[in-house]
Amino acid sequence: MIGDAPRMDKATLPSSYPLSRTCPLDPPAEYGRLRTEEPMHRVRLDFDGSTVWLVTRHEDARAILGDTRFSSDFAKPGFPARLTSQPPGPGTFIRMDAPDHTRLRRLLVPELVRKRVDALRPAIERIVDELIDGMLAAGPPVDLVDAFALPLPSRVITELLGVAYEDRAFFHETTKVMGDQHVDPQTRLTVRNQMRDYLDRLVAVKEAEPADDLLSRLVQRREKAGVSRAEVLGIATLLMVAGYETVANQIGVGTVALLEHSEQVEHLRAHPEAMPAAVEEVLRHQTVIDYGARRVATEDVEVGGRLIRSGEGVLVVLAAANRDEEVFAGSDRFDIGREPRDHLSFGFGVHQCVGQVLARAQLEIAWTALLRRLPGLRLALPVEKVAFRHDMFVYGVHELPVTW
Ligand code: HEM
Repeated sequence: MIGDAPRMDKATLPSSYPLSRTCPLDPPAEYGRLRTEEPMHRVRLDFDGSTVWLVTRHEDARAILGDTRFSSDFAKPGFPARLTSQPPGPGTFIRMDAPDHTRLRRLLVPELVRKRVDALRPAIERIVDELIDGMLAAGPPVDLVDAFALPLPSRVITELLGVAYEDRAFFHETTKVMGDQHVDPQTRLTVRNQMRDYLDRLVAVKEAEPADDLLSRLVQRREKAGVSRAEVLGIATLLMVAGYETVANQIGVGTVALLEHSEQVEHLRAHPEAMPAAVEEVLRHQTVIDYGARRVATEDVEVGGRLIRSGEGVLVVLAAANRDEEVFAGSDRFDIGREPRDHLSFGFGVHQCVGQVLARAQLEIAWTALLRRLPGLRLALPVEKVAFRHDMFVYGVHELPVTW
């Protein structure tokens, strides 16, 4: 077409959320139109009919996530509280504001800094190798989700928390059920209680016999930091919830994206040193926190030329911000040479992912080993047949049959 594309009629902008994807490896096409036409846009949430601001531009996303006048507290009126039939328990600081958020996060941060994660790398490499040994022993085709993507973060968390070897199978099975949205609520509740009781006993073990692990150190440092025992239990649960499904699905959908770009995979095989940059591009292009980062305004605040009133809910669509042309030229192109420093896949501001160094390490080690040890790795079915996780809080794949 010659000349400018016609400006979109406001009436054609989406009025409800979530939106559907047309291509499973790209966010809904409407995000692009919203970013240029109406970057701060009111939509009705399908699950309860409430109205929120949908934020699709990178600049506005950072402005909101970096502004503590936007609250993460689920209990605040106006908060877009999907999936939260139960109020978050003690220690769940992802859903809190200062000063409790600061006090609890501060206890955990030293445990997930680069030095600690580097010390954990040999253990992650060992786990990855054992999982690939299992895949090789089973022979192709193998479901990468079940054989690799789910057990990896689960076993890394057991390593981190200092779970005894004989309890690992219980821990893995329980985490899997807790993360499965298809399990009936009663089973989920029973399993949640089993996990809570298990962690309670684990904390008692660490109190009696502290070892060289994260949970022992939290138990020892908690009193001085003004953190209760119940809050330590909550932090341990939060680590499992926040660090399991995210990593598993990032591996799942990230592997699809990589395998769909075979020439880039060949480059990575020949140049494993390019993996850290490739991981950043996978994180940007395949943003698994699909629903968005949720906030509620606690004061009237102007963002992107619009006035957000106190008590209004906000959904910062990280997947849309990560495709903003103003920041990432040719943003829909998957390009492992891009080095996208400012992507928002781990959020931004005071709640920015505290596990991001650990997440990056797992992704890097996982894909390096998969490409090295399974040189013929490819999907065992056409990509159109892959079961993608549409309408889930965390996007990804339900299963991923692969061969090599
Ligand atoms: C690819 C993997 C991961 C992704 C995409 C991811 C993404 C995110 C995002 C977007 C947030 C911010 C939420 C908000 O602002 O409302 C967050 C927070 C958080 N993440 Fe992650 N995460 C990942 C892995 C992990 C891991 C491995 C851990 C720990 C074991 C972890 C623990 C947390 C915690 C505790 C928070 C809350 C931080 C706070 O509220 O101060 N995450 N994550």
